[in-house]
Amino acid sequence: MKDFINGLPKVELHLHIEGSLEPELMFELAKRNQVQIPFQSPQEVHDAYQFHNLQSFLDIYYQGANVLIHEQDFFDLTWAYLLRCKEDNVVHTEIFFDPQTHTDRGIAFDTVVSGIHRALEEANKVLGISSKLIMCFLRHLDETAALATLEQAIPHKDKIIGVGLDSSEQGHPPEKFAKVFQKALNEGFLTVAHAGEEGPAQNIHDALSMLGITRIDHGIRCVEDEVLVAQLIEDRTPLTVCPLSNIKLKVFEKMEQHNIVDLLRKGMCVTINSDDPAYFGGYMNANFHAVANAHSMTKNEVAQFTLNGIEASFILDDEKARLVVLVDTYMMKG
Ligand code: ADE
Ligand code: ZN
Repeated sequence: MKDFINGLPKVELHLHIEGSLEPELMFELAKRNQVQIPFQSPQEVHDAYQFHNLQSFLDIYYQGANVLIHEQDFFDLTWAYLLRCKEDNVVHTEIFFDPQTHTDRGIAFDTVVSGIHRALEEANKVLGISSKLIMCFLRHLDETAALATLEQAIPHKDKIIGVGLDSSEQGHPPEKFAKVFQKALNEGFLTVAHAGEEGPAQNIHDALSMLGITRIDHGIRCVEDEVLVAQLIEDRTPLTVCPLSNIKLKVFEKMEQHNIVDLLRKGMCVTINSDDPAYFGGYMNANFHAVANAHSMTKNEVAQFTLNGIEASFILDDEKARLVVLVDTYMMKG
């Protein structure tokens, strides 16, 4: 199964680019930009990555982003992630970025977008990896700040396909952002949102009805509402699940208790993703291995995660068909 997983073409739909900042690159950028960080070595950074919930992670994660200053830094960060994609046979990726984490520190929106976009373009040419870019609003900030961020994104519509919602779910429900999401939809952006990660199933319901989302990020707490589960299955509403993240942030105690395989077998469009791989101990292959080690699955079931990812992606139908052929060919050989 290990070799089968490693060689399987994969699609990633839930990756925060700031969450792919490895301690080694954090150190290199801190030195290059003369930014102070509260660690003596990359090992010390690794050792600090012990979290007891989402907030304890977010506090460290926002601090790490302080080393990102110049366009080249955002390029280097994104390029390092894309090289990891190549290693893990990720053929298409849809990545998040948090502009407010940077603009609130005085970094221009254009600097962030153009560094990330340049790396994505380069990866398409050099590595054969296709991609989309999604901008997230930080839900611990207010809707006025999100509206101002949306205004900044409008001139970059050619580079940004959609908007999302991340950061602290508890106490910041979807309705807080109903207006800005409506405006984003009117501007032609697709919408997604983190919901039902730490928050209740009601947040999934509300994100679907109030934010017009086409995908749910995490969504694993949907199981607390049977009617919602039936609806998600019927509509094939995708869930971008992040198994290692859920263990690191104590959403589930053990991978054996994770519900992703159960949801897959119920017919839900669940996908496997890495969320913040530099912080949670693994990229795509590691997430697939962790699930497969804890839950016995057939090769067809494992491949279904990729097929679901293709179905749930924001690429055109002919591109989806090309990726399905890639998976089918791999299955016939294997
Ligand atoms: N930002 C980065 N990772 C996140 C997660 N897992 N949940 C909410 N916000 C995030
Ligand atoms: Zn996330």
